[in-house]
Amino acid sequence: MVTRPKVKGVTDGVLRIRRIDLTDVDTIFSGVSSSLEALSRWMPWASSGYSRDDACWFVANAWLAWRHQAAYEFLIESVADGRFLGLCGLNAISRDDGRANIGYWTVTGEYGNGVATTAARMTARFGFFQLGLTRIRLFHAVDNIGSQRVAEKVGFVLEGTQRKRMKLDGVLHDAKLYALTHPDEIMG
Ligand SMILES: CC(C)(COP(=O)(O)OP(=O)(O)OC[C@H]1O[C@@H](n2cnc3c(N)ncnc32)[C@H](O)[C@@H]1OP(=O)(O)O)[C@@H](O)C(=O)NCCC(=O)NCCS
Repeated sequence: MVTRPKVKGVTDGVLRIRRIDLTDVDTIFSGVSSSLEALSRWMPWASSGYSRDDACWFVANAWLAWRHQAAYEFLIESVADGRFLGLCGLNAISRDDGRANIGYWTVTGEYGNGVATTAARMTARFGFFQLGLTRIRLFHAVDNIGSQRVAEKVGFVLEGTQRKRMKLDGVLHDAKLYALTHPDEIMG
């Protein structure tokens, strides 16, 4: 049974992940817009027509989903200057048996600084310790090497390849499936 979290954010002193607020629409729209080229290659929702309305829809849904324990979406920001670094979150939550899916992306100019790895670790710990999750699943297109490195560095265990799992730009791609089933599996 998934429990209600006691906190709305987590920090390691350098990065902070926090609940998305209704006032974050423009920040998210601007971050997605500037990263769209990379995002559209790997994320089914990211397309060249991405608009401010899409950002509004995402933020409103994220806010409501948190309230209804359906998903926990976080904004990733720099503690030092509040700079927007990306998004991460837990979605597709099965409240009866404590399973969820994890997702993340980093603003293009911030790649390679450990943002996604740190945010995914914090999100996974939040899932186990705050929500009482039993299994956190991750999947990415087989040739998404950046996401594969994040999964490996966080400690996700590779479970296999799912054929034709993700539709990207109208084409179905095979995806690698990983999971964490205990917080002790998280590395770093
Ligand atoms: C994949 C992604 C989240 C990585 O974000 P990041 O903040 O750069 O990740 P980190 O800095 O924590 O880096 C993790 C590792 O991935 C590597 N990496 C990051 N982007 C990479 C890329 N495009 N190609 C190859 N390796 C990449 C980093 O070098 C690092 O590996 P290393 O420590 O062995 O050098 C980012 O490239 C992204 O947002 N991509 C588009 C969206 C996406 O694919 N999301 C995941 C969908 S499941």
